[in-house]
Amino acid sequence: MPAPLLVLGSVNADLYVAIDRLPERGETIPGRDTAMRPGGKGANQAAAAARLGIATWFVGQVGADNHAAPLRAALVASGVETALLGATTGETGQAFILLQRGGENSIIIVPGANHAWSEPPAAAIARIGHSGAVLLQREVPEIVNRAAARAAAAAGVPVVLDAGGADAPLPDDLLPLITVLSPNETELARLSGQATSTEAEVLAAARALQARGVGTVLVKLGARGSLLVPATGDPIRQDIFRVPVVDTTGAGDCFTAAYTVALLEGQTELQRLRFSAAAAALCVQRLGAMPSMPARADVDALLAAG
Ligand code: RIB
Repeated sequence: MPAPLLVLGSVNADLYVAIDRLPERGETIPGRDTAMRPGGKGANQAAAAARLGIATWFVGQVGADNHAAPLRAALVASGVETALLGATTGETGQAFILLQRGGENSIIIVPGANHAWSEPPAAAIARIGHSGAVLLQREVPEIVNRAAARAAAAAGVPVVLDAGGADAPLPDDLLPLITVLSPNETELARLSGQATSTEAEVLAAARALQARGVGTVLVKLGARGSLLVPATGDPIRQDIFRVPVVDTTGAGDCFTAAYTVALLEGQTELQRLRFSAAAAALCVQRLGAMPSMPARADVDALLAAG
């Protein structure tokens, strides 16, 4: 049985508006319906990992408003241990999501409680040495991530960083602490300062980050699948499972979390990529981010079928 996964990151109330298309500048358009669904990159990844069968500890912060209780409840219902989910006096993080037909989204984040801390709680640092891996994203202050990554590196615990959630460059002192960096192609372009339009460019950009100290680079290429670039050795390509898409929100979170679960389980690189692609394919077929994270049995069934 693998040691627990510690996920540190954001938790958001995802406030959805379903629309037919994005409004033009200055234009008013009708929406079809609205809903609050649990989300936030950190919480999504914690929920995904727990549903995929790994004991998962979540470290994050909600506010003191009406969103806090349902978000905490959603994490608990997914099987996530929330003893280190703190509460501040302000607002819980919110994400305003314009969901278009076909599943594409545009998101505006108001970070609220996700930005109202400057270090992880001491209890979280103490747990890092007892975890099998630490999974981070970029919707909390960098200083918080850096403290967690340093504690993990000091304890010999692998760090997986999903590059989503911030535009700023990654500081040079953080890069060597990252065992697996998981950007999409846009994030990879920003972080490397290089073009990522072709697969050759993606590979070169990943290698550029590795030259600055990052270990494995796991690039999410959307409909084009994914490309795993190990620190040494040849890259590995994985296609997506072709399925009808309802909502892509959280699919990248699902992919990175599934990869981390498979890493903890000791799956081979090829198995990890396929496992992650299958999990993401289930995620995009359902509405919402956290609510669409798949159960392990469903991922195993999809893998067995295809
Ligand atoms: O990655 C998807 C997530 O991004 C959403 O759940 C939203 O909260 C934003 O953080």
